Amino acid sequence: MNHPNTQTSERRSHLAIDGGKPIRAEMLPYGHQSIDETDIEAVAQVLRSDWLTTGPEVTSFEEEFSAFVHAPHAVAVTSGTAALHTAAFAAGLGPGDEAIVTALTFAATANCVLYQGATVRFADVRPDTLNIDPASVESLIGPRTKAIVTVDYGGQPSDLAELLELARKHKLVLIEDASHAVGATYRGKRIGSWADLTTFSLHPVKQMTTGEGGILVTRHPELAARARTFRNHGITTDARERANAGSWVYEMVDLGFNYRLTDFQCALGRSQLKKLPAWLRRRGKIAARYMSAFALLPEINTPPVLPDRESAWHLYAIRLNLQRLSVDRTRFFAALRAENIGVNVHYIPVPWHPYYQALGHTKGQWPVAEHAYERLITLPLWAGMTDADVNDVVSAVTKVCAAYRV
Ligand SMILES: Cc1ncc(COP(=O)(O)O)c(C=O)c1O
Repeated sequence: MNHPNTQTSERRSHLAIDGGKPIRAEMLPYGHQSIDETDIEAVAQVLRSDWLTTGPEVTSFEEEFSAFVHAPHAVAVTSGTAALHTAAFAAGLGPGDEAIVTALTFAATANCVLYQGATVRFADVRPDTLNIDPASVESLIGPRTKAIVTVDYGGQPSDLAELLELARKHKLVLIEDASHAVGATYRGKRIGSWADLTTFSLHPVKQMTTGEGGILVTRHPELAARARTFRNHGITTDARERANAGSWVYEMVDLGFNYRLTDFQCALGRSQLKKLPAWLRRRGKIAARYMSAFALLPEINTPPVLPDRESAWHLYAIRLNLQRLSVDRTRFFAALRAENIGVNVHYIPVPWHPYYQALGHTKGQWPVAEHAYERLITLPLWAGMTDADVNDVVSAVTKVCAAYRV
């Protein structure tokens, strides 16, 4: 019988990080767009037409997207970040106001509050879903609070019923950053139909893309009108409306931005939207395969699946059970990268970034998000992954767990 230390070093010697053969020959990215010839043709058709921007494809994309998410109004903009900025403007955030934002997200979710001159209060997250914790939100509500900004982490919807109740009780605007959650449902209804303002990102790693792009949806016509004006410099009419009316007159009524998405990007969006339901099914299947494969590995915890909501599976973020491992997340991450599995980490808590630290957000105030951050690793998940790609991820995670098991 081998001495236990010899066994451990034999297991480790197979890891690519220690000079062994990697599971894959080439890096598998954590996210990737799916583009086919119909997408290319849709874009090319617009390039041959008269309208490259602010034309008919924008209107059609907005109509089709709003039908998909079951929200009456949609406003397409240049990025998910622009959609959040537009939402913060439409919500009326300004100097002296506060917005309560989840601590575990991409910086843009919080930055949109600062763009408007308002103040961010960071809330902690739920330990299972890593979505904003309504109890933490409630503890932060004060006389200056004007909005709650929640994120559907990884594609799993937030606790929308509880958040809407808090918003109604305290007369707050609920902004849902659904950058991860196009196509997700909560209590049987699509994300987009719940919050006062919902924003989506159309970046290539998301479920569907327009290159760069974003879209804001709402059921409130007055918020939609403010958003529409804001994305066009704060001007009430756009170039096509003026051309159609044969008029040069326009009025700037707000300080807006140029956040207009082009027609060829919207043509890509329309073409992608047709394939989105099949892509969401594929993402769900890959997540289910990971779930069953990893159920046997005590070294990792898989993301929870709640009965009243359906994730859109943008991210598959596992959490390491560090008590069962001889290494920390940094080493486990590096070992998976060496196997050519393109893992990532979502997210460094936003208040930990130097910019927010300089604003006085000291570490240690968000114990759940901070504990999770030290353990999180995002595995590859995108609709175009083959079954062999998925098996490579399972093999690599299983191999690294076995090597570092205590
Ligand atoms: C939660 C979240 N919010 C906002 C954004 C910003 O979206 P975009 O890159 O389209 O500006 C992202 C992008 O990754 C995101 O993940």
